[in-house]
Amino acid sequence: MISLEKAKRPIKGDIFVPGDKSISHRSIMFGALAQGTTEITGFLESADCLSTIECFKKLGILIDHSIRPTNGVPTITVHGKGLHGLTAPSSMLYTGNSGTTTRLMSGILAAQPFDSDITGDMSIEKRPMGRIITPLSQMGALVSSTRGNDCAPLHITGGQRLRGIKYRNHVASAQVKSCIMLAGLYADGETCVYEPALSRNHTEIMLSSFGADIHNELSRDGSAVAILKPGMPLNGIKINVPGDISSAAYFIAAALIVPGSELLIRNVGVNKTRCGILTVLKQMGADITLLNLDESQEAKADILVKYSELHGNVNNRFEIGGKDIPTMIDELPVVAVLAATANCETVIKDAAELKVKESNRIDSVVENLKAMGCDIEATDDGMIIHGGKPLHGADINSHNDHRLAMSFAIAALAAEGTTRILDDGCVGISYPTFFKDLLGLL
Ligand code: S3P
Repeated sequence: MISLEKAKRPIKGDIFVPGDKSISHRSIMFGALAQGTTEITGFLESADCLSTIECFKKLGILIDHSIRPTNGVPTITVHGKGLHGLTAPSSMLYTGNSGTTTRLMSGILAAQPFDSDITGDMSIEKRPMGRIITPLSQMGALVSSTRGNDCAPLHITGGQRLRGIKYRNHVASAQVKSCIMLAGLYADGETCVYEPALSRNHTEIMLSSFGADIHNELSRDGSAVAILKPGMPLNGIKINVPGDISSAAYFIAAALIVPGSELLIRNVGVNKTRCGILTVLKQMGADITLLNLDESQEAKADILVKYSELHGNVNNRFEIGGKDIPTMIDELPVVAVLAATANCETVIKDAAELKVKESNRIDSVVENLKAMGCDIEATDDGMIIHGGKPLHGADINSHNDHRLAMSFAIAALAAEGTTRILDDGCVGISYPTFFKDLLGLL
């Protein structure tokens, strides 16, 4: 448990946040499937990404951690064995709390010549896997939920011949898209995944750097499509992982919420499919500037944030929905916290996906913001926040959800009295040094 008080002085200075979680997972996975070595700097050493490393070690991949003698930079080297180099695991693959590991690996495992079983912690065993079982089955894979509830544990029967499919997903999900694309690397013929809006495209960018023939297009009806033609070998590369915008989001929010603050967050990934939080907060009046923008491959920049009073637009109301949602899905809890302190009504809609994250993030955000005195209601696909009522400290139940724990640590900075985050250890899932970094700024 950690106790936090209202911030007494402005937040000033400059910081780095740890590496991007989505890019870190993919660097290990694709490195394992490539021929030769992949060297990764800036890798996120959090529980979720370490689960990915452990799973690939169990599949026979050598992965070393070392410090580069030339410049002292921690480096992870994946000794890839090519698309057909994985070996059968001797026991169940355990993915911890990581949905990305579970779903993306299932796509790879579905195409292997051996059988495998995969599961994770209590949260993973409740998250929907039917969304990957359906397309993988259409490709000819044999994947079953061992308890028959469309959740993990999954049993994957190897040795199936896969065929490319055209799959239309009704939600924008990078995990589903990436799972299908990874199976598609082994399939006969092209694989296309259509989604209502473009979800994060790290898989497309990184697989293409490894040599795969993969790209995104906008289809005629306005949906986004990812297209993969199999047959190209993957070759090891060097990857420099930028800071995670999802982790930077807590510090952006802290600087916006505490009067007089000015904070520079260096080297953050600003891929457009991840930056919805910046666009939306700017529309709400946030003073955010990108400096040193580097748009090669995965875009990155330094983010300068200054304290700002957030507001609505039409009738002092602000609506967040539609195609913005997938570009800021993991940031919605902390955006809800900001909306609680803004002098307007904020409606978050089209975000039913929040219900199937590490916790039901509609219920858990509403429960905890109510406990802090906010006037907020849950809806079927989001929430309505009547902002501007003063927040007070409370005991926060983060439901073991890292993003909840971090979002409410930021709410604490604007709340009168003491806020206690009861299960604060869960921040280790994506940001092990979060509280140390936050306290260092206060
Ligand atoms: C992720 C995709 C998102 C996101 C998750 C990481 C990824 O999930 O919420 O934290 O790395 O592909 P969905 O694709 O299921 O929305």
